[in-house]
Amino acid sequence: MNTSDSQPEIVAATPENIARAAQILRDGGLVAFPTETVYGLGAHALDAAAVARIYAAKGRPSYNPLIVHVVSVEGARRVVSNWPNAAQHLAQTFWPGPLTLVLPKNPEVPDEVSAGLATVGVRVPAHAVAQALLEAATIPIAAPSANRFMQLSPTRAVHVARGLSGFDLILDGGATGCGIESSVLDLSQAKPILLRPGAISRPQIEAVIGPIVLAAEASGTESRPAPGMLDRHYSPQTRALRFERRDQAQAFMASHSKRIGALVLETSLQSTLKHEIVLPRDAATYAQNLYEALHQLDAADCDFLLIEMPPNDEAWHGVRDRIRRATQQL
Ligand code: TXA
Ligand code: MG
Repeated sequence: MNTSDSQPEIVAATPENIARAAQILRDGGLVAFPTETVYGLGAHALDAAAVARIYAAKGRPSYNPLIVHVVSVEGARRVVSNWPNAAQHLAQTFWPGPLTLVLPKNPEVPDEVSAGLATVGVRVPAHAVAQALLEAATIPIAAPSANRFMQLSPTRAVHVARGLSGFDLILDGGATGCGIESSVLDLSQAKPILLRPGAISRPQIEAVIGPIVLAAEASGTESRPAPGMLDRHYSPQTRALRFERRDQAQAFMASHSKRIGALVLETSLQSTLKHEIVLPRDAATYAQNLYEALHQLDAADCDFLLIEMPPNDEAWHGVRDRIRRATQQL
């Protein structure tokens, strides 16, 4: 098992390599693997020592709980102690898929997974490689995003390799589909709370279980904000500034003669930018490409990055949330 700082091996996600990865996980090692959202860094969820290695590799604080990945509703029911009707309806509608449900945890799940909380986050991923790995390993897999704490999430194997070390293997399954992390919904309290917006939107969830509350609106119900709600998160190394109106960005560029990179919607902002990425005005396509764009811009040797905010509507909620955490207001 590789617990040093050496680079993990990257291998194609063939059936043989998935079997090998499953064995590493069963033996207490760590494997990075693709899900439909971002790459995860997985460990045997019922092995406290293995889970502790995730925190070490990521430099993640111990108060930040992990999501447990399972292959089916039956698997989910084994890691929780209560399975309410709302969970059943949501699972039937959205699993496999990018929705994490937070529920009271089964005592078998080590405190390392839940960061000492009485609840556990659980989801069935929709990616074929993640599913094959869960099938082969026959264990629940605890997996946060496979990036160092506070840094950009990985949507490709190469992002994982560049950002993280001190674990065993990376299964390369190509670029992930959805591109931003799962929506996290807390079902353990009196009212369902959306702790983290993601690909499954608030209206989609409400169509199944009725009104839910946004974490921002639910202050006071929890002693500590959900770790995914940390203000700065998912950030590039380069100083990144977001803007809502192009005249704000133009004014900034006029007064800063430095090397500037930009991520904008639909049309170019300016021809003199050191590096510019233009993404379409379509929330799903944008989400799919967001982290790759930020990784590219971060590697482009700029002094500042300017990020154009997409429209303020439900379809863009998850994307706007990630951009807000990655940037400061211009
Ligand atoms: O799409 C995803 O969710 C990816 C892939 C790998 O599944 N995973 C991911 O994990 O984004 P991570 O660790 O980067 O974010 C998990 C978030 C935490 O920030 C935390 O807010 C929330 O899920 N979470 C997990 N367990 C929780 C719990 N018991 N109570 C409240 N929040 C929890
Ligand atoms: Mg993360």
